[in-house]
Amino acid sequence: MTTFTLHFWLNNQPESVEIPLTATLLDVLRDELHMTGTKRGCGIGECGACTVLLNGQAVNSCTVLALQAQGQKVETVEGLAKGEELSSLQQSFIEEHAVQCGFCTSGMLMSATGLLRQNPHPSEKEIRTAISGNLCRCTGYMPIIKAIEKESKR
Ligand code: FES
Ligand code: FES
Repeated sequence: MTTFTLHFWLNNQPESVEIPLTATLLDVLRDELHMTGTKRGCGIGECGACTVLLNGQAVNSCTVLALQAQGQKVETVEGLAKGEELSSLQQSFIEEHAVQCGFCTSGMLMSATGLLRQNPHPSEKEIRTAISGNLCRCTGYMPIIKAIEKESKR
């Protein structure tokens, strides 16, 4: 098996890991680094459960080869809270009851984080577009949209 050493920035910390050449970014996060906040759903770019930020852009980490992250900045849900203190966006999700089983939540949070950084005051339509690649089987989406709207008004 051909391997290489991936050097990248993970949640603003330098990280190096020896991985197979064919590993996806999701494989590296979950299986090599045990960062299991990022979820593996479909594995084929359809559900958004594996969403992370790559240089600030929301991507499905199951469809990104880890070598594409060489030297780049990756952010995962583990990077949102500061110790025990949840981020304001995470708090909005709780307040708006935007979490049920939670399987989609880390992906939703990362898509919303990417959106709010680029566009701090999005319209409802822009919010819907930003999370259109994130599937939720529980909430019916409205609480999630309201949570992101709430955060944009804080
Ligand atoms: S697990 Fe990556 S999009 Fe579904
Ligand atoms: S909260 Fe269960 S899939 Fe979204």
